[in-house]
Amino acid sequence: MKQQETPLFTALRDYVASKPLQFHIPGHKRGSGMDPEFRDFIGLNALSIDLINIPPLDDLHNPHGIIKEAQILAAEAFLADRTFFSVQGTSGAIQAMILSVINPGDTIIVPRNIHRAVVTGLILSGARPVFLNPIIDERLGIAHGVTPESVKQALFKHPEAKGVLVINPTYYGFATDLVKIVEICHSRNVPVLVDEAHGIHIRFHDGLPLSAMQAGADLAATSVHKLGGSLVQSSVLNQKGCLVSPERVKTVISLLTTTSTSYILMASLDAARRFLAVKGQRNLERTMTLAENARLAINTLPGLYSPGTDLIDEKNVFSYDPTKLLIHVKDLGHTGHEIDNWLRSTYNIEVELSDLYNILCVISIGDNEETVGTLVKALMVLSRESEAWIKVPGFPSQLPHTPELCLSPREAFYSKGDAVPLEKALGKITKEMVMVYPPGIPIVMPGEIINQSVLEYIKDAKSYGLPIQGPEDTSLETIKIVAL
Ligand SMILES: Cc1ncc(COP(=O)(O)O)c(C=O)c1O
Repeated sequence: MKQQETPLFTALRDYVASKPLQFHIPGHKRGSGMDPEFRDFIGLNALSIDLINIPPLDDLHNPHGIIKEAQILAAEAFLADRTFFSVQGTSGAIQAMILSVINPGDTIIVPRNIHRAVVTGLILSGARPVFLNPIIDERLGIAHGVTPESVKQALFKHPEAKGVLVINPTYYGFATDLVKIVEICHSRNVPVLVDEAHGIHIRFHDGLPLSAMQAGADLAATSVHKLGGSLVQSSVLNQKGCLVSPERVKTVISLLTTTSTSYILMASLDAARRFLAVKGQRNLERTMTLAENARLAINTLPGLYSPGTDLIDEKNVFSYDPTKLLIHVKDLGHTGHEIDNWLRSTYNIEVELSDLYNILCVISIGDNEETVGTLVKALMVLSRESEAWIKVPGFPSQLPHTPELCLSPREAFYSKGDAVPLEKALGKITKEMVMVYPPGIPIVMPGEIINQSVLEYIKDAKSYGLPIQGPEDTSLETIKIVAL
């Protein structure tokens, strides 16, 4: 019964209904003092709960009332011992997770295909990363998770490691054997930190990969906003056990969090938790069926391929989330980016991401037969008509070889540097991160040596119009390197 309740959201509504006379920020005062066009568009309900941490409404920095109750219910729903709300996305939760276990100079084991938020965590904490190579899928041109065996070997070589961070499931929905990884790490008392940005829903259906908390991980940064129905930027940091001090986690998350914590975001976390706990299983069943039917239909279309269970045997992938509809388009003779643009301009369809070989479509609880049917129909036309388009003259390079790390990301970030033309950066240590966003995985990160395959990959990504981010010089004519 408790999971039916929303202590934070309900208290906010009650507070607003009591019509307090407000002499505190935010100065728009329930929308009265703001641009009228924006107010009318957003609506007075939303504006009325755009509040801050006044005494009746508790305080995220030291929860003891309605926020505490909402976090306790969230922990119960997510099978955590403790849940901390994040109003700074999973990026904020990831940074808190790293700073909770790492002191400057400590070793942390991380996969090389980390999200940029992890790189920020490495810079802030002063960690020395030891990189694990994820399983590379040459055909799809993407990286999957890391294997338990690679974690075991890394821990053997680096017994000084203070933590192991894994991404599970990946952006593309593929999961590793997390239970085994946790077993290996815990046998050495090393905590497991999980970037679970794409896995808030998985705990709510038995047909989905195990969640970090189910697998016994110590900390998991999880985007409720991505696939769990809360508002953008709202996430949770879940914790299990006492291998990491809960007090330290609480202190670190507070250090990194704004003092003006958004109550709209926190209320949306409270409501999303209820929706997942009460209706998640049934809604996910329907969503998974929708996605699997779409996958079946897509796999009958010439030139298109949507991977699923077939990868489990082939690629050492342990399990996968069918709601991530990855569509491989290389055999059409076009880049994922071109197909992304075509879907937008021809059908007003917006995909989650595109890369050189693929597009990724997220099928969620918010979809139905009609929305997914429209996507599949568009793909039918694509498969039929793209034959006639001018094809990409030869395909761009594969994922770059992992660059060698020779300074910690923090040392590189704080060292003196010069901007040099990209071509001249070969063999130099970069001060800047370069990535295609999304997915936001660094092609090269501060402290790494720029190798030939990195240069070629950046050049290809530029010429194929992929969205490159990171360097101060957004044209990427130049890049900042460490001055030695
Ligand atoms: C793997 C991964 N980790 C972390 C993040 C960061 O999440 P957020 O956007 O909630 O900060 C993302 C975002 O796309 C991601 O893909």
